[in-house]
Amino acid sequence: MVAAHITINGVDTSLAGATPHTNLLDFLRGRGLTGAKEGCAEGECGACSVLVARPGLTELSEWVAVNACLIPAAALDGQEVVTAEGLGSATAPHPVQREMAVRGGSQCGYCTPGFICSMAAEYYRPDRSTESCDGHGEHGPNGFDLHALSGNLCRCTGYRPIRDAAYAVGTPADDDPFAHRRTEPSPEPVPTVLREEGNTFVRPANLGEALRLLREHPEATVVAGCTDWGVEVNIRARRAEYVLAVDRLPELRGLRVESDHIDIGAALTLTEIERRLAGRVPLLAELFPQFASRLIRNSATLGGNLGTGSPIGDAPPVLLALDATLVLVDADAEREVALADYFTGYRQTVRRPDELIRSIRLPLPLSPLTAFHKIAKRRFDDISSVAVAFALDIDDGVIRKARIGLGGVAATPLRAEETEAALTDRPWSAETVDAAARVLGAEGTPQDDHRASAGYRAAMLGQSLRKLFAETTEAVPS
Ligand SMILES: Cc1cc2nc3c(=O)[nH]c(=O)nc-3n(C[C@H](O)[C@H](O)[C@H](O)COP(=O)(O)OP(=O)(O)OC[C@H]3O[C@@H](n4cnc5c(N)ncnc54)[C@H](O)[C@@H]3O)c2cc1C
Ligand code: FES
Ligand code: FES
Repeated sequence: MVAAHITINGVDTSLAGATPHTNLLDFLRGRGLTGAKEGCAEGECGACSVLVARPGLTELSEWVAVNACLIPAAALDGQEVVTAEGLGSATAPHPVQREMAVRGGSQCGYCTPGFICSMAAEYYRPDRSTESCDGHGEHGPNGFDLHALSGNLCRCTGYRPIRDAAYAVGTPADDDPFAHRRTEPSPEPVPTVLREEGNTFVRPANLGEALRLLREHPEATVVAGCTDWGVEVNIRARRAEYVLAVDRLPELRGLRVESDHIDIGAALTLTEIERRLAGRVPLLAELFPQFASRLIRNSATLGGNLGTGSPIGDAPPVLLALDATLVLVDADAEREVALADYFTGYRQTVRRPDELIRSIRLPLPLSPLTAFHKIAKRRFDDISSVAVAFALDIDDGVIRKARIGLGGVAATPLRAEETEAALTDRPWSAETVDAAARVLGAEGTPQDDHRASAGYRAAMLGQSLRKLFAETTEAVPS
């Protein structure tokens, strides 16, 4: 067994003493790097943000900001981490730190190291430029996408000086060591086995080994980006005897566009999918900015969103509307399951314990009219009360095909099949939409909870179809 270690601010640091449940934040702070703070321990505040070197669009590295409170330190074995302390110091501040200081972007300072790391990741984004506005996010004159900070909260400064600092940063100097690091490949994932206090964290080298281990350990907890698992560990004190990390398995990290389908690796992060697809699937492009924050999307995977079987995940309604299938794989074979048949009950699916989600397959061609409506209490970084995704084929004013995915209105995500039937082969008109909106309002079995009442959820369903119609036509239905 090779000793596990992380390169932290350029220093080789042994993982000795870390358990499979020690998160990176506690590990760093335990070694005196107390810049990164614990605010919430559940991915909501960004006080714990740090930088990691990851593969970008090419084999070269990029600096990516992640929530250190959610990621097990063991998951960073062989990787490179940079904290606010590693970026600069009081006498030689990093350009991002200098702008935050001179523009009054820090008061009590609790959130500041986290903001600095998120800002530094955006500072070093290779495709950031004054022309880089892609229609999403809010870009400054320097091409800085303010949504890079969507996962960072500040209680006392007020966001204007922080935004001013973000919009004032320039471009890295020629001798900037972090910019130079991007010209080299990112660290290879290394196979890891960490045993401590009776618990084991394993990162297998390839898919075959992962599936063999999964068969030997049907009790294993599979983890990818750990944005769900980290919350379970921190807030609900969950512990697993055997943790199996699949996030760096090359077989789960491909993205292929074929003539009749697109195959998206289950372990690609949402940020990676967003950048690699570059708007090729408009419904996914609409989903990504509404899914959590940039910090979370830098780790969260589609495999994780579907793996939990949650009825309020945002990907399932979108993937249902896109008619997605899942490729499930075990040690012997693969099988393809329609996402519509995948969920069997509350947090239950057809996936067996010895199977992994290998990829998500989207059939082509895509329906031309699509929309994703996420109804939540906040515009960004919130969990859906209701989520509705539409994919319609309208030809000569007649709806030829309708696919509607729903989340938050039943024990599982589901297709609105009765509404789809009420739309199919009918004119895309105010009358059709109004009748179908009433059918949609009765789909599922919405419940009252702290996010929304059952009545509100049902009302939002019907309203969602009316909104789509209003946005795509002149006429507004009654
Ligand atoms: C602050 C915050 C905000 C969030 N906001 C949103 C949001 O807006 N919308 C939303 O939908 N979710 C949201 N989430 C939930 C979470 O980010 C997503 O569910 C994410 O997609 C999980 O992916 P992951 O890779 O981090 O999963 P992990 O935590 O690593 O794993 C989750 C589960 O999936 C299983 N799993 C992972 N990969 C595979 C695989 N390849 N095969 C089989 N099983 C697998 C694991 O066994 C595990 O049980 C949020 C979470 C946080 C902390
Ligand atoms: S401590 Fe709040 S996001 Fe990590
Ligand atoms: S400066 Fe106090 S929380 Fe941001």
